[in-house]
Amino acid sequence: MDNFEQTSRRIRITVMGLGYVGLPLAVLFVKGGFHVTGFDINPELITKLRNKEMSLPSLAEHDAHFITTSDHFSATSDLDELRDSDAIIICVPTPLGADRQPDLRYIEAAADSIKQILRPGQLVILESSTYPGTTKEIANRIIAGTSYVIGEDLFIGYSPERIDPGNSQYSVETIPKLVSGITPACLNQVIQLYSSVFKEIKPVTSPEIAEMAKLLENTYRFINISFINELAILCDAMHIDIWEVIDGAKTKPFGFNDFYPGSGIGGHCIPVDPLYLQWKLEQLGLESSFIRESERINESMPMYIVKRISELLKPSTPLKGASILLYGITYKSNVADVRESSAIKVLQYLHEAGADVSYHDPYMDTIHVGGTLFQSVELTADVLQRADCVVILMTHNAMPKADILKYASLVYDTRDVMDKQRNMRNVIRLGDS
Ligand SMILES: NC(=O)c1ccc[n+]([C@@H]2O[C@H](COP(=O)([O-])OP(=O)(O)OC[C@H]3O[C@@H](n4cnc5c(N)ncnc54)[C@H](O)[C@@H]3O)[C@@H](O)[C@H]2O)c1
Repeated sequence: MDNFEQTSRRIRITVMGLGYVGLPLAVLFVKGGFHVTGFDINPELITKLRNKEMSLPSLAEHDAHFITTSDHFSATSDLDELRDSDAIIICVPTPLGADRQPDLRYIEAAADSIKQILRPGQLVILESSTYPGTTKEIANRIIAGTSYVIGEDLFIGYSPERIDPGNSQYSVETIPKLVSGITPACLNQVIQLYSSVFKEIKPVTSPEIAEMAKLLENTYRFINISFINELAILCDAMHIDIWEVIDGAKTKPFGFNDFYPGSGIGGHCIPVDPLYLQWKLEQLGLESSFIRESERINESMPMYIVKRISELLKPSTPLKGASILLYGITYKSNVADVRESSAIKVLQYLHEAGADVSYHDPYMDTIHVGGTLFQSVELTADVLQRADCVVILMTHNAMPKADILKYASLVYDTRDVMDKQRNMRNVIRLGDS
C-alpha cells in the first residue's frame, strides 16, 4: 500500500462481522470514500442489508440508509467476493463459552476464512476484544503452512474497538484509536489506513499492549461498578443513601470517578473482558483477586434485587403469586441489546420464585427466558395499578416517570431515576433503605 494518499480510495476494505462494531466501522470507511465489502455468516443480516432495511439495531436510521444505498458498499456471505480485498478488519464476537472461558471460535473461523483468500500485500486488523497474545496466535494460524512472512508480504495488527453504542457525545471516529502491529511495517500500514478516517491515532509498541489496554479499560469499569454495587448493599444495611454519598464524593474535582449501582453489569464487553484476562492469567499460573471478587459481587446482584423486592412487598403479599412489573430489560439505556443483561436474570429469578412477572421495554418486544416467552406489556394506568411492585431496572428516554409515580403503589428504583424525589411515599431505592 505504497503512496497511500494517492491510492487510498482504490483500496478495497472487507469488514468481517457486521454487528455493533463492524457496521459503524463500515459506515465510517464508506464515508471516507473507500469501497467496503461487509462479510457476515448470518444470511438474514445480509438479506436485510441487500434489501435496504433500516431497522438495524447497530445503526441509526440515517446511517443504515446511507450505507445500504451507497454504491461503495456491498454485503455478502460469499468468501469468493473478498478475493480482491486489500485490508480485512475482523469484528467478530468474543463471548464466553459454557465454561465461562474465552470462546475464540469466531475469531478462529474468521482467520480460517482469511487463509482461503490470502494474497501478498494484504493488511489484516483484529478489532475484537480479547486476551493479550491473541493477535499473534491468529497471525500464526493464518500463515501456517504458507511461505508468507509477517511484516514483509502480510501485515497484521490489532486495534481495539472502543465504541459505546448509544453514546451521542463520542462517535466511532472521535474516540482516539489505539493501533498496533506485529512488526513496525505492520504498524505503519495500520496507521496509514486508520489515520485516513479516525481523528486521533495512538500507536502503541505491540499488539499485546493494545490488547491489554482494552482489557484494562473494561476491567477498571467492571471492578468499580462491582465495588459501588457492594457499597449499595452495605448502605442499604446502614440506612445511608448511596446516591447522595456519590453526589457528595464527586464534588471533589480530582482523584474520584463516579460509578453508579444497579442490578448488575451487562453487555457484551464489561462482564466478559475481565474473564478473558482472568483466563490468560490462569494459563500463566497467576490470578487477579479483584476480578474474582468483582465477578462474585456482580453475579450476586440480581438475586439481591429479588430478595429486596420480596422484603418490600406488603407482609400480606408473598413473592409467590405477587404481580411484579419490570421496567427496562436491556443492559443499557436506549439500546436494543439484552446480551448478559442482569435484568433478564432478575426476571428469570422472579419467574422461578413463582411471581407473576411481566416487563415493559420500548426496545425489546419479546424475550425468551428459561424456555418461556415474555412479551413487553403496555404501560397503561391499569397495568401499573395492578402491579404489587414496579421495579426500575434500566432507564430509557421514553420512560413515563410521571405515570409510574402516579399509578404504581410501590416502585423499587434501582437506578435513582425518579427525579431524586426523596421520601416519596411509594418509591424505595436500591442503596437507600
Ligand atoms: N458492542 C460493543 O459495544 C463493543 C464495543 C467494543 C468492542 N466490542 C468487541 O467487538 C467484537 C464484536 O462485537 P459486536 O458487539 O459487534 O458483536 P455482534 O454480535 O453485534 O456482531 C458480530 C457479527 O459477527 C458475525 N460473525 C460471527 N462469526 C463470523 C465469521 N466467522 N465471519 C464473519 N462474520 C462473523 C455475526 O454474525 C455478527 O453479525 C467483540 O469482540 C466485542 O467484545 C464490542
